[in-house]
Order: sequence, then structure tokens, then C-alpha cells
Amino acid sequence: MLKKLKELDSTAQTSITKINTIQELNDFKVKILGRKGEITALLRGLKSLSPEQRAEVGKVANEIKDRLEEQINSRASEINQRDLELRLEKERIDVTLPGLPINSGGIHPLTRIQREITSIFTGMGFTVAEGPEIELDYYNFEALNVPQHHPARDMQDSFYITEEVLLRTHTSPVQVRTMEKMAPQIPVKIIVPGKVYRKDDDATHSPMFHQVEGLLIDEKITFADLKGTLMLFAKKIFGDQVSVRYRPSFFPFTEPSVEIDISCVMCGGEGCRVCSHTGWLEILGAGMVHPNVLKAGGYDPEKVTGFAFGMGIERIAMLKYGINDLRLFFDNDKRFLIQF
Ligand code: PHE
Repeated sequence: MLKKLKELDSTAQTSITKINTIQELNDFKVKILGRKGEITALLRGLKSLSPEQRAEVGKVANEIKDRLEEQINSRASEINQRDLELRLEKERIDVTLPGLPINSGGIHPLTRIQREITSIFTGMGFTVAEGPEIELDYYNFEALNVPQHHPARDMQDSFYITEEVLLRTHTSPVQVRTMEKMAPQIPVKIIVPGKVYRKDDDATHSPMFHQVEGLLIDEKITFADLKGTLMLFAKKIFGDQVSVRYRPSFFPFTEPSVEIDISCVMCGGEGCRVCSHTGWLEILGAGMVHPNVLKAGGYDPEKVTGFAFGMGIERIAMLKYGINDLRLFFDNDKRFLIQF
């Protein structure tokens, strides 16, 4: 029996060194040392031995078991160590590789155009003024010489909150608000960017949109000042090649009033779909400040005169960038926004 034990011991020892995975090693351990394993099976024969032999064989068997167990454990840590090294090799990270670029936000095209417009005018000495988006009927209409019955007050066009309070339909109320603060100082020379609201919603109208208002009041301001200022503006924003034309128009708060067109930026004035084959595009409304508006603001129309203008920022951006649907500005679609 001792001989058999020693044989088993030496084959087991060689087997252990050849085993390469933890799974196989566990199976092997069960097969040799387990309760139903080979050593246990061999020791069943102990019964037939004398007590002295039994003690002798038992002792040797225990030594062999202990040693094999130790060997299996140390083989296991060899295998684990090797697996760990393989894994570390495989998952190696090159910390010197360049990182992934981080997407950063950009400036919205409307903000970009608004800043561009504002900076053209601040370059001519205008300062930026602002006013509330929730406005009194008085400033939005009354003080701007829009009488009670005027169609512009129609509930269809405006978002009323109460009879006297509404979302401003244009930036013009800031004309009077600023005059009230400044009168009788001159000059008043402001540019007013901001949000305005009307009940329109289609490819060229949004219920919320942006305008830039301009107002210049001083002694001896004439229509020539209006023309010179807005001509310079048109050329700065659309390029030196544009021509400008003035069409008689009507606004209750200016007299005389004009609408200003530029030669079509798409066809250069030849006529195309964008300009409805007229060769011209309307970009803003303007005029000489009405005496009633000057009075409402606290100025004497006998002493000072002025001009005012207002333009839609979306419209300018659409023309400048060739965008045909205004809703794109407000969809928050990155594929659109990323282009600016
Ligand atoms: N407020 C006018 C509009 O919204 C534009 C305008 C402003 C016209 C100032 C003349 C003078 O249509």
C-alpha cells in the first residue's frame, strides 16, 4: 500500500506542474484529495493492515495529502499571477494617447447676428438700452401714437395679459421709456435689441422673435441722417455691393415713414424666388419720430427731431445665411446649430 501511495504521489506531482487553469486544478484536487478521491479510495485497504502498519501508512498518507494540497495551492497562485499579468498586458492603457475632443457649445446664430448688428451701431456711437417684455398698453401703443381703435391693437395680433398689460409686440416702447428717463437731455442715441411677441406661427413667423430698435434724437436731425446711418448699416451687414432703396410706408409713430429694401442677396437684384422676382428684399421699417411721440417722451418737437427704425433679427439672419425656415432657429437641432 505504501508503494501505491508513493506512486500516486509522484504521478500527482508531475500532473500538477502541467495543469494550466484554475478550473482543471480544482477538478484535479477533488479527484485526488476529495472525499471520493483516489487517496481516500486507497486508504480503504487500511482495515486489512495491522495496527502498526496502519499507523505508519496513515502517517505517510497524511504527509502526502498535506504536501499535495500545498503544491496545488502554490500552483494555483502561479496560475493566478500569470493570468493577472496576461490581463494587465491586454488591457494596457497608453496614457500618452491624445484624449477625445470635448464638444463645446457655440453661439446661437441669432445671438451672433444680434451682436453683429449691435456692434455696428455702437461703432457709430449708439448705446444699448433695454426694456420689459411684459409691457403696458400705454408704451406699446398709446405713447407711440397708436390710437385706441387702431387695427394694430387687435387682440388677434397681440398676447394680452390684462386690458392694460401685454407681451410687447415690438421694441418701439423702449423709445418712449428711454426718452422719459433722459428728457430734456440730448442726444438720445440708443439701440434696443430684444424679444417681441405676436400671434403668428408659420415658416416665416414665430410667436416670439427678436428685433433691434434704433432711436436718434438731437437738434437738426433730418431724413438725410436716417439715410446715411441705415445705408452704412446695410453695407456693413450685407457687404459693400448691396444697394438700398426707400419706399414710402406708414407707421403711426413715424412721419414720414419708410420701408427699407436691399438688393436681393441671393440674385444680386436680377430677380429670383427669394425676392419674389422683384430683385429687392425688405429689411426694416423706419421714419422720422412723430411729434406726438416726442411729446409723450417729454421732448419739444419744435426744438428737437429724430429718426427711429426697427428690424427683425431672424429676418436679417435668414437673408445673411440663406435660411428659408425661421422655425429652424428654435428647434435646437444640433445639425443646424453646429453650422454657425
Ligand atoms: N416697430 C415697427 C415694427 O415692429 C418697426 C419700426 C420701428 C418702424 C421704428 C419705424 C420706426 O414693425
